Amino acid sequence: MKRVAILISGGGSNMVALAESMTGDHPARPCLVLSNRPGTGGLAKAEAMGLPTATVDHRPHGTDRAGFEAELARVLDASRPDILCLAGFMRVLTEGFVSRYAGRMLNIHPSLLPKYRGLDTHARALAAGEAEHGCTVHEVTPELDDGPVLGQARVPVLEGDTPKRLAARVLPMEHRLYPMVLRRFAAGDRQPVWLP
Ligand code: GRF
Repeated sequence: MKRVAILISGGGSNMVALAESMTGDHPARPCLVLSNRPGTGGLAKAEAMGLPTATVDHRPHGTDRAGFEAELARVLDASRPDILCLAGFMRVLTEGFVSRYAGRMLNIHPSLLPKYRGLDTHARALAAGEAEHGCTVHEVTPELDDGPVLGQARVPVLEGDTPKRLAARVLPMEHRLYPMVLRRFAAGDRQPVWLP
């Protein structure tokens, strides 16, 4: 049974979808939900689900990324994770940290990578006049929002879409895609998932 640590910074809706999917004959189970922001909404949801939680606040470390990541790795490693899932985790991780978990760290990004790496993806897709948009689950490599694609879900961009409305159309697809990809990944299957 693979042990999965889920890293969050906010509401944790992807964390909930992932945790809820790991039941029955699923080859993985959640072993920790870790937030870099104390008291964030996702921590309460994880606790309500009876999941172990931890907080590693990045703020006391200031610009000392290595110091933050050393504490992060210590807390993470105490839960002996086989797989890390970044799910709305908003800290950029250094190459040193990423290389510690190379090949076993996933992330979900709200765009059809390689388009729109970075932030504000929905607004940028709208500004570019895209006809479709979506989300991508990829293996985390040192290059931001790069790495092998393990799945993508597409949604249409509709007349009058705002970033908020487009994000609301993408998010439910994230909640379908990420659990599908994790189940395959935990079984050693890197065959990409395409939705719909
Ligand atoms: C989502 O848009 C997701 O694509 C991005 O973070 C946002 C919030 O996710 N990674 P969550 O509700 O905290 O899972």
